[in-house]
Amino acid sequence: MSDTWPSPYTEDDARWWVETGQHQSGAAWAVCLHDVPRGGVGMHPLQGFLRCNVEVGWWLHPDHWGQGVISQAAAHVLTQALALPDVTRVFAHIHAGNARSIRVAEKLGMRLESVQPRSAFKRGEVIDRVLYASYQ
Ligand SMILES: CC(C)(COP(=O)(O)OP(=O)(O)OC[C@H]1O[C@@H](n2cnc3c(N)ncnc32)[C@H](O)[C@@H]1OP(=O)(O)O)[C@@H](O)C(=O)NCCC(=O)NCCS
Repeated sequence: MSDTWPSPYTEDDARWWVETGQHQSGAAWAVCLHDVPRGGVGMHPLQGFLRCNVEVGWWLHPDHWGQGVISQAAAHVLTQALALPDVTRVFAHIHAGNARSIRVAEKLGMRLESVQPRSAFKRGEVIDRVLYASYQ
């Protein structure tokens, strides 16, 4: 996850996200297993001359990793994002060491566009990221 997520993540953080945060950044969905929220997927359409782009992201509670849950949920988000008017490119920034998330992007058919060395902070350290994308 990016450093924009509070850590530790408190109940107040969750309340702010549900009431305010999610409305500021496009669309977000809870990923529910047996009606219990266990993760999330989201998309953030860019604006102005970049409005042909949508950023997508995903996360899941570790108890459920490796079962294909996020690949399935993210596939729906990708389809929805590519169906938006004017949208030609859907992208995801992923930390270069996040092999699971990279694999999710690959399973979605997203293509590696670039490696972005030393392009973000993660827990106080500067990290490399990779950029994956799909096109309409
Ligand atoms: C990224 C994340 C959502 C993946 O969830 P998941 O439930 O494991 O995803 P899936 O089961 O759909 O797919 C994971 C794939 O990674 C593969 N994988 C697991 N560990 C791996 C490793 N060390 N190296 C390479 N691939 C790996 C799995 O085998 C699977 O691929 P497969 O279906 O071809 O076998 C989850 O790890 C997560 O929430 N991480 C923390 C938050 C995060 O990093 N979000 C993404 C920010 S960009």
